[in-house]
Amino acid sequence: MSLNLGPIHADQPVILAPMSGVTDAPFRHLARRFGAPLLASEMFASKMLQFNGGKNQKRSINFADEHPLIVQLVGGDPEVMADAAKISVDAGAAVIDINMGCPAKKIAKAGGGAILMQDEEKAVEIVDHVVRAVDIPVTVKMRLGWDENNLNAARLARKCVDMGACLITVHGRTRSQLYSGNANWNAIREVVDAVDVPVIANGDIVDLATAQHAMKVSGAQGVMIGRAACGQPWLVGHIADGLRCGQQPPPPSLMEQYAILEEHIELLMSEYGNHLGLVTSRKHIAWALRGMKGAATCREQVFATENLLEMKQLLNTFYQDNIHFSQSAA
Ligand SMILES: Cc1cc2nc3c(=O)[nH]c(=O)nc-3n(C[C@H](O)[C@H](O)[C@H](O)COP(=O)(O)O)c2cc1C
Repeated sequence: MSLNLGPIHADQPVILAPMSGVTDAPFRHLARRFGAPLLASEMFASKMLQFNGGKNQKRSINFADEHPLIVQLVGGDPEVMADAAKISVDAGAAVIDINMGCPAKKIAKAGGGAILMQDEEKAVEIVDHVVRAVDIPVTVKMRLGWDENNLNAARLARKCVDMGACLITVHGRTRSQLYSGNANWNAIREVVDAVDVPVIANGDIVDLATAQHAMKVSGAQGVMIGRAACGQPWLVGHIADGLRCGQQPPPPSLMEQYAILEEHIELLMSEYGNHLGLVTSRKHIAWALRGMKGAATCREQVFATENLLEMKQLLNTFYQDNIHFSQSAA
């Protein structure tokens, strides 16, 4: 059960979803180490990339060490998207993914994201421009449609494939649903039937069982995992392991989870500097602590401190307490 995207070969069809503010380089580093077969960057606004890619760039983008990386672009101007794709290729992107699913109003104002599902002509023009601008695989991520009365994913996917898109990911919700209700994996089958390239099912996949079920009912060739990986950078790799061997490995021990979280914080510090690194690490800590004894109190204390050492000491005590608690409960 593999996935081929041009020259890129993944031995299992499991992809870490693009998540703005989450799947940055530190998170991807951990997810890859735990065996995620394919990873997507956060979305990059094509205009920003075009500007930053020029001579005055403050912080250069560089994906060379992350090969193969899917770099996602969002925007509504075909030429700007094509330029941003070229800049991404120069920076080491292995695949360009075009975002047609983001529901954010700010993104829609610039003509990008899910609003493209309402303007198929523009959507197709973007795919055409990007495919002609680069010589790496181009993929598209979309929703089922704008709302339940406009379920055009199958038709739009077909048009994108005709323009050269070589994989389609479908989040099984409409734009109007945002994240409410359940992802409709059945509805993704219409897209699978409409195109002759791999389709990836996305939405509410949290473990091996849901991954297998989503593929079965949709007919999709693979799955993309988003929110369930927050606080669990090992999850995408573990689901891939599960598909490979028939059984999902158990999560790391609490001791290991603590070490992973510490490493994540260190990576965030070196990526963003002390202040932003500390602030950014808070949401990852909150996700990591979910469901554990005393999580709410620990979260409050961690969020209140600006001191890295104190933050680490709070986490150390919290994890030690939870380890003792789980040992005495066993
Ligand atoms: C915090 C957050 C940020 C996201 N950012 C992006 C993004 O940059 N590009 C994108 O295509 N989708 C983005 N998404 C949507 C996810 O990629 C995914 O389609 C969605 O969360 C459904 O999958 P899940 O149920 O596995 O989370 C984001 C979702 C979340 C929760």
